[in-house]
Amino acid sequence: MPQFQRQTRLAPANPQAIAEAAACLRAGGLVAMPTETVYGLAADATDERAVAAIYAAKGRPRFNPLIAHVADAAAAGREGRLDDFARRLIEAFWPGPLTIVAPVAATCRVSLLARAGLDTLALRCPDHPVAQALIAAAGVPLAAPSANRSGRLSPTTAAHVAADLDGRVDWILDGGPARRGVESTIVACLGGAPRLLRPGALTSERVEAALGVALDRATPGRAPIAPGQLASHYAPRARLRLGARRLQAGEAALDFAGALADAGAAVRLDLSPSGDLDEAAARLFACLRALDDDGAARIAVAPIPERGLGAAINDRLRRAAAPREDDV
Ligand code: TXA
Ligand code: MG
Repeated sequence: MPQFQRQTRLAPANPQAIAEAAACLRAGGLVAMPTETVYGLAADATDERAVAAIYAAKGRPRFNPLIAHVADAAAAGREGRLDDFARRLIEAFWPGPLTIVAPVAATCRVSLLARAGLDTLALRCPDHPVAQALIAAAGVPLAAPSANRSGRLSPTTAAHVAADLDGRVDWILDGGPARRGVESTIVACLGGAPRLLRPGALTSERVEAALGVALDRATPGRAPIAPGQLASHYAPRARLRLGARRLQAGEAALDFAGALADAGAAVRLDLSPSGDLDEAAARLFACLRALDDDGAARIAVAPIPERGLGAAINDRLRRAAAPREDDV
């Protein structure tokens, strides 16, 4: 029997279910939990076997480091060496959708496997009562990648998680739709200017305002240092055509602010009819999944402005539109 065959319990995230799921985590189990960004697939980050089970359940093709979810700044300081920039960001934005990459501390308990052997560590304190209750009850940092099968879209509802991971995890705690809808912003504080590794639910404008310095940004041609940032990471089955101003035959439309409203698409979903980028981010993955499930072969996507959360939305759309490895 494959090792990931498990009896999955899906339940509303009430105190009873949270207590049982936390006990399951302490025993090395796998729990899909809501966070404010997307659903995460949590396990005890200090337990190599539990972490190995995350990789198996997701079918991650190669080991790619996981974010350790912690209760607060003090817990982060036990796991990573936080410089002044990291401390300033934590003070300004935790709990919240910001992940800090820091050098590993001597007291770090997060397993080498969760860190994929690196001497740095990604730390995040989620702004969600269910995730916080689980971290507190488990009493250890929780390794939690997004709760999707590798190469698929991040889940923003418990139903998305079940579609990908039923039978592969022990618990799915349903906390309703994720409020933010795109993953956390990742900033590396490894000496020198902090570096933006992944645009996300916290805008880089706000990060820079809190830091008082400009973020170092990944430049094209430079090797990505967030190993998960491979080009076609966030992939729906359908082909995406970005920046579309009119439709081609047979295309479904993923619209923004009604730009494609009169284009005559048979199927059209609008990320935000009022042009609100926060709403568009929250709906992005659910809309892509819905168009995928509808059987769309090609999706024309309206232009999304690059300001505010538009940067994270466009990043995810570019990855979703990138050629697949299996195309080569
Ligand atoms: O919002 C989020 O961040 C969600 C929720 C569940 O917290 N989690 C999430 O995890 O998006 P995941 O595994 O899908 O993405 C984590 C990213 C990967 O691209 C990984 O390569 C990068 O973080 N990462 C983790 N540790 C790192 C490290 N030490 N250095 C650089 N990048 C790291
Ligand atoms: Mg992911």
